[in-house]
Amino acid sequence: MYFDTHTHLDDDKFNEDREAVIAKVRESGVELAVNVGSGIKESESCIALAEKYDFIYAAVGVHPGNTGNMTDADLELVKQMASHEKVVAIGEIGLDYYYDEPERDVQKYWFRKQLELAKELQMPYIIHDRDAHADTLDIIREVGYTKGVMHCYSGSVEMAKVLIKMGFYISIAGQVTFKNAPKLQEVAKFVPVEHLLIETDSPYLTPVPFRGKRNDSSNVAYTCAKIAELKGMDEKELANITLINGKKFYGLE
Ligand code: NI
Repeated sequence: MYFDTHTHLDDDKFNEDREAVIAKVRESGVELAVNVGSGIKESESCIALAEKYDFIYAAVGVHPGNTGNMTDADLELVKQMASHEKVVAIGEIGLDYYYDEPERDVQKYWFRKQLELAKELQMPYIIHDRDAHADTLDIIREVGYTKGVMHCYSGSVEMAKVLIKMGFYISIAGQVTFKNAPKLQEVAKFVPVEHLLIETDSPYLTPVPFRGKRNDSSNVAYTCAKIAELKGMDEKELANITLINGKKFYGLE
């Protein structure tokens, strides 16, 4: 049984067939999924989905790309939503320097604010870090609260070592199945299983053999199988370990 620890089944790409997709996901052996918020409206949708489906939980927060117009009132809304019984984490929050917008200072400001909120509530948090490794680590250290997961990990083995030492989980998505991903495959081999989570980040990052098509949480199995192969482990055993890790991280034991 699998735990898709990071998915976006509320995405518009599922508007035509969401119920059928979620039924398929459940039947495919996904025991739990955390549907992650990327903005205020999206976080509300995450909660609605979690209320409708037993096996889906929610994370609430504002993605760095959506912090351009964020306000104190929005932060208060995140805090209120976080008290919902099916909300298990703050996220996704972080820094994304791939795009020029919003300005880096704005992203950093709201990342720090949301991280401080996670600390205040003593909730786990989900980091989105794209091309911003150094600043992400600096802010985590400044806030001094490390109950986090680095989602869709794209850093080096060296950075993974630092994060693991801090107590972080490293979450690996479908890119690990790509032919041109030697760096991520090295990371997958290196990360000790007790610090590993698996995710789809669907509808994005579709693993081989469906690369190029819309992704959904049922494909978590392909990512798990690839990581198990890289680690020389049994696929079912890895699925079970990462399921237990996910439950522990999100407080679902
Ligand atoms: Ni995501």
